[in-house]
Amino acid sequence: MTKRILITGGCGFVGSNLAVDLRTRGYEVTVLDDLSRCGSEILLEKRILPQGVKFVRGDVRNPGDLSKLKEAFALLIECSAEASVLVGTQGENARRLLDINLQGAIHCFEWARERRVPVLFLSSSRVYPYDKLNACRYRETGTRFDLAEGCEGVSPRGVQVEMPLQGIRSLYGASKLCAELILREYAVQYDLPAIIDRCGVIAGPWQLGKVDQGVFTFWLAHHYFRKPLKYIGFGGMGKQVRDLLHIQDLAELVAKQVQCLIGDKPAYRGEVFNAGGSSFSNLSLRETTDICEQLTGNSMAIGSVLEPRPADVIWHITDNGRTEQVFGWAPKRSSRKILEDTFHWLKDYEADFKRIFL
Ligand SMILES: NC(=O)c1ccc[n+]([C@@H]2O[C@H](COP(=O)([O-])OP(=O)(O)OC[C@H]3O[C@@H](n4cnc5c(N)ncnc54)[C@H](O)[C@@H]3O)[C@@H](O)[C@H]2O)c1
Repeated sequence: MTKRILITGGCGFVGSNLAVDLRTRGYEVTVLDDLSRCGSEILLEKRILPQGVKFVRGDVRNPGDLSKLKEAFALLIECSAEASVLVGTQGENARRLLDINLQGAIHCFEWARERRVPVLFLSSSRVYPYDKLNACRYRETGTRFDLAEGCEGVSPRGVQVEMPLQGIRSLYGASKLCAELILREYAVQYDLPAIIDRCGVIAGPWQLGKVDQGVFTFWLAHHYFRKPLKYIGFGGMGKQVRDLLHIQDLAELVAKQVQCLIGDKPAYRGEVFNAGGSSFSNLSLRETTDICEQLTGNSMAIGSVLEPRPADVIWHITDNGRTEQVFGWAPKRSSRKILEDTFHWLKDYEADFKRIFL
């Protein structure tokens, strides 16, 4: 019998791409989403429904919306979130972020526990403390900062899953870490199969990038539509570095994990895995500008703000070490390929998504 997968937050960037990928692999897929993210309604119409994915409008903050789902599910993938790291940094909206990312996630885990449905949880590299990362020593080159001296769990290969977690991480990062800890307890105490993926920056087609989430797509779209940009923080030169993972590379990892979780004897009980572009795919903003100029043919003056915003990181590259060993997976698509694919998508769907970026 075909197995059905539920994706909460399934009309967002990650959820919609996973839904379509799993559908093409032969699974039945239901997405539950409250369409609160601006543009999710367009992803629903253009991306999700044409692929035969079932949509249910619902809010993870309301357990009744989850319990209305009557079909038998083989797996829950929890992707719903207020996914901005800046929300809550000035106090406003903190309550909403916690209600969605923490209370909402608990409702999802509780729904899964009651029905004995395995869980795959999309967490974030933002659980790693940025104060510790920013305190490492960096070497400045013409276009970027490189790590000169790391700290425990941080080497030039990247941030390991074993990096100690004491420190400051943003309210968003804290909400994801709390949800991780609760899922781990559920998995062990209730013998519930579960996997947690701590994702670095994910990018690619169908991302509705904003300044505070989806920065690479945001940067490309601003070049495409000739909108102003600023290098913010760390001297205002755009030398801060992040890795980026193509959404299709993530989908290929998730497909392997789905097989493990819905197999006969699923082994995982809330183990945590890093998933990021790694030392294979990473860019500084300045380097991103060069590629965006080449792709769009548009070159703009970019403003400069010396001081970083709360929770900004100077450098984050993911060390996928254990994920690569366990799942035989590694990112295959380079940073340039990610931006090229996103550019072609922007061109093809300009009329549909223009209003989101303008
Ligand atoms: N995109 C990235 O770079 C990235 C990196 C690391 C981790 N993640 C994680 O991946 C997951 C998906 O992120 P994304 O980039 O797709 O974000 P997104 O904002 O595109 O998608 C989130 C979806 O959740 C929905 N949603 C929000 N509140 C909801 C609620 N109360 N009930 C039901 N649905 C709700 C939104 O409408 C949206 O469709 C999140 O958990 C995020 O923390 C994303």
